[in-house]
Amino acid sequence: MKITATLISLAAAASLLIVEAQHPAGTAIPLSLNPNHKRNFRAAIAKLAHRYPQLDLESHHTFHPPGAPVDNGARDKGTGSGQVPLIDVGNDSEYYGTVQVGTPGQPFRLDFDTGSSDIWFPTSDCNTQACKAHHRFDAKKSSTYKKDGRPWKIGYGDGSNASGILASDIVNVGGIKVRQTIGLATNESAQFASSPEDGLFGLGFNTIESVKGVKTFLDNAIESKAIAQPLVSVFLPSVRRNGGKGGNYLFGAIDKTRFTGALQYIPVTRKGYWQINISNAKYNNKALTQASEGIIDTGTTLIIVGNAAAAAIHKNIKGAVDSSKDPNIGGWTVPCSLAKTSKDNVAFTMGGKDFQVPVADLAWAPLDKTGKDCYSGVQGGQDGLWILGDVFIKNNYCVFEQSASPRIGVAPLKY
Ligand SMILES: *[C@@H]1O[C@H](CO)[C@@H](O)[C@H](O)[C@H]1NC(C)=O
Ligand SMILES: *[C@@H]1O[C@H](CO)[C@@H](O)[C@H](O)[C@H]1NC(C)=O
Ligand SMILES: *[C@@H]1O[C@H](CO)[C@@H](O)[C@H](O)[C@H]1NC(C)=O
Ligand SMILES: *[C@@H]1O[C@H](CO)[C@@H](O)[C@H](O)[C@H]1NC(C)=O
Repeated sequence: MKITATLISLAAAASLLIVEAQHPAGTAIPLSLNPNHKRNFRAAIAKLAHRYPQLDLESHHTFHPPGAPVDNGARDKGTGSGQVPLIDVGNDSEYYGTVQVGTPGQPFRLDFDTGSSDIWFPTSDCNTQACKAHHRFDAKKSSTYKKDGRPWKIGYGDGSNASGILASDIVNVGGIKVRQTIGLATNESAQFASSPEDGLFGLGFNTIESVKGVKTFLDNAIESKAIAQPLVSVFLPSVRRNGGKGGNYLFGAIDKTRFTGALQYIPVTRKGYWQINISNAKYNNKALTQASEGIIDTGTTLIIVGNAAAAAIHKNIKGAVDSSKDPNIGGWTVPCSLAKTSKDNVAFTMGGKDFQVPVADLAWAPLDKTGKDCYSGVQGGQDGLWILGDVFIKNNYCVFEQSASPRIGVAPLKY
């Protein structure tokens, strides 16, 4: 659903930060090491309520390291699966992959988001700063472009939004090509100006498409039999555990080398987000008797649970502090030293099985230069659906299966 806690390094994103600097605090994405920014989880979380409303075996031989161009040409005939390598941005704040749109393909860096369903990026007609900071789609240069013209707009949980018009063209994801309705943004909120991504790639169900009746990429890939299995498998890497390398989205196949044991399948309770029942939360196998429906959301950076569950988890962590009322922090903090010293685990029970997140990953990002206290990777404030974001997914391989009875297969990730 895109709730991004950002940490953009000056070195990596110098040019983007120039744009960002023209939009002072308040329009900035909550979490940032830029000292001029107000860090505030609470604002990001509060806004949530406003919206509503591979590797198959073959591709092991042709592994694309992150950053290398993907040779889509080799897969033009369709092998039934397509892999998109991921770039890990800002110490696991967000991840993007490159998608080709139009004929010949124009590349876009998109944030794959299981918590929303639209695909969009800027159009060359858009001359706002946010648009100019990104790749813009030039319809005149695509022989397969088709006009649609319906107006389109979307808002996300972190308060960001974009609007424009709908169009249709060929979208090529790791060699899987479908004709797809896309949103061409003519306006986007300032949050996107500083984003390393050009736009989003929604992997949710079509029931939450911004424009009713629009089919998702997964819908189209399944209907056109472009993918062998009706699913997308997600491997999010972790800077702490594997240097943030090798991550990918694999459409139409499951990479059995990426997890330990068997996938546990969890039924989807509602088609919109990828919604599931979470029957408990645990700390070192001790039940915290906390339960909720939740979503597994690649577009949210952290794990966001109810206040009681966040308190129950942090109660077990020496040095954890609830600073949610401090406007400069707005959430739980934990000692940064946990990243190196903790052997503890938090777990979420789903489908009768516990899925772990090391407490080391709760030391998510330093509050300041001293590096003493860190924002926690688990935050409260979400008394509706809990959100198992990237902090969960980078520890658990997830297979989003859009079959007649949709389900999510989960197993501990193997680095
Ligand atoms: C990522 O984390 C490492 C280790 O804590 C730190 O040195 C580095 O500056 C961080 N990078 C970013 C982009 O925040
Ligand atoms: C873009 O949206 C903002 C409000 O979010 C509005 O003030 C501005 O006029 C819009 N720009 C264009 C070009 O539509
Ligand atoms: C879009 O986001 C901007 C910045 O957060 C906000 O000022 C504006 O009101 C939003 N527009 C819509 C239509 O939600
Ligand atoms: C999810 O939990 C609710 C409430 O406990 C229950 O009624 C429902 O049957 C559960 N659904 C699935 C698919 O387990």
